[in-house]
Amino acid sequence: MALKFMTAEEAALLVKHDDNVGFGGFTPAGCPKVVPAAIAKRAEEEHAKGNPFQIGMFTGASTGDSLDGTLARAKAIKFRTPYQSNKDLRALLNARDTQYYDLHLSELAQMLRYGFLGKVDVAIVEAADVTEEGEIIPTCGVGIAPTVCNMAKVVIVELNKQHPKEIRGMHDIYEPADPPYRKEIPVYTPSDRVGTPYIKVDPSKIVVVETNQPNEGSPFAPIDDVTMAIGRNVANFLVEEMKAGRLPEGFVPLQSGVGNVANAVLGCMGENKDIPAFNVYTEVIQDAVIKLMKEGRVKFASGCSLSVSNEVIEDIYGNLDFFKDKLLLRPQEISNNPEVARRLGLVTINTALEADIFGNINSTHVSGTRMMNGIGGSGDFTRAGMLSIFTTPSTAKEGKISAFVPMVSHMDHSEHSVKIIITEYGVADLRGKSPIQRANAIIDNCVHPDYKPLLREYLEMGIKGHTPQNLHCCFAFHEELAKSGDMHNVDWSVYNK
Ligand code: COA
Repeated sequence: MALKFMTAEEAALLVKHDDNVGFGGFTPAGCPKVVPAAIAKRAEEEHAKGNPFQIGMFTGASTGDSLDGTLARAKAIKFRTPYQSNKDLRALLNARDTQYYDLHLSELAQMLRYGFLGKVDVAIVEAADVTEEGEIIPTCGVGIAPTVCNMAKVVIVELNKQHPKEIRGMHDIYEPADPPYRKEIPVYTPSDRVGTPYIKVDPSKIVVVETNQPNEGSPFAPIDDVTMAIGRNVANFLVEEMKAGRLPEGFVPLQSGVGNVANAVLGCMGENKDIPAFNVYTEVIQDAVIKLMKEGRVKFASGCSLSVSNEVIEDIYGNLDFFKDKLLLRPQEISNNPEVARRLGLVTINTALEADIFGNINSTHVSGTRMMNGIGGSGDFTRAGMLSIFTTPSTAKEGKISAFVPMVSHMDHSEHSVKIIITEYGVADLRGKSPIQRANAIIDNCVHPDYKPLLREYLEMGIKGHTPQNLHCCFAFHEELAKSGDMHNVDWSVYNK
């Protein structure tokens, strides 16, 4: 049947106040752009007339500024889940003007299908192609697109000319059946295809908005000395693991988190020729993976999005003959699936905001209260992988914040899931160690020299027990930061009176 075409403004009228809207894409990659802007404009017009206009938002993860930023600035978001990283949205949810639900990214699609989060009224997705049979080819990010397209009554497709139709074949769209009918997800190696190259929906639900919007990929920061040292420590540690026979010689697939540190770690692994060419099974495929693929150091990458700079996406699209059989984009339910992560035996590398000396990790909350981004896929991978690594610079804010504290101010990953912590100073191997042994490994190998004496003194003040915490002063580092702005000023004698 012939598809319906509309302008972005007309499509925005299909979204009503209080609707739940599901967006495709993952990070800015693959996110719709012009219809969110039209919805934001509509919200502002309704607000000016004194009418309420806010939507509930389900996304893959963070999005581009043209989605989260535009809607946040228009005060058009009532509810938002999951991961975000936009400064205007972050301000809204920390002011509690937007209700934010943070959850493991692999779980969102099934939670929607289970009905735990209400209905999905409208789906808005970016596509490289859409056919009269209702086959939608996503662009460079998938996220929850298949699920929201299936569940919504209306599917608005932003057909973006910037993404060539020829990327058809680079996606593997698979939705597992729900309990009690679910079977295993038959991904046994990162390159296994288990689904279709398109999202299939009833074409009568589809509305197409044609666009020509540039990708919103941002460049990565140049690698500084600290980041480089962390990357080298990770690469050297993995080489030692291989030599000790704890990682197979052919290596295992790698998952690597978001951001500059993750990008740099991968770069260092690629440079270390003691590590054989490897596969990637991850959430975001960043610039470093593409560079290593061209150098023959990464053999295959399966992910949920190509979260690369604009320069790199153009390179991929210009060389599809080379990249098409080496890249696969999946829904986040599969890219981040704990069943698959456990089966493939991933080495997982994610970044912590803060850690405590016993190995608990805070990935999300600054000083225990202010949301930074969200847990993202870090929990999906950390708990399920073969070897979970957390990296972090040993300090933040010119050294005034120690990344290592007596007790994390918020916990996302517990000591039971975290195997290795790596900073620019070295590696703490927490496997098989008791709490006091873990604390010593972390202080000896990872903590900044400025903070070692304070943390050693803390351990000595610890109440006797399996875990020598001192609940009287376990948040002294955070209290001092709030008081003087510098954790160096912690004075234990104040607590010992
Ligand atoms: N207390 C307060 N602020 C801290 C801090 C701490 N303990 N540690 C870092 N910061 C600040 C930094 O100074 C920086 O501030 P700025 O933006 O004002 O410069 C900011 O937090 C980000 O830190 P940075 O060192 O640049 O780290 P990053 O960009 O690598 O991000 C996380 C780190 C934890 C925020 C990020 O990795 C994340 O969102 N993780 C959770 C999701 C995840 O792991 N996903 C991957 C799964 S595939």
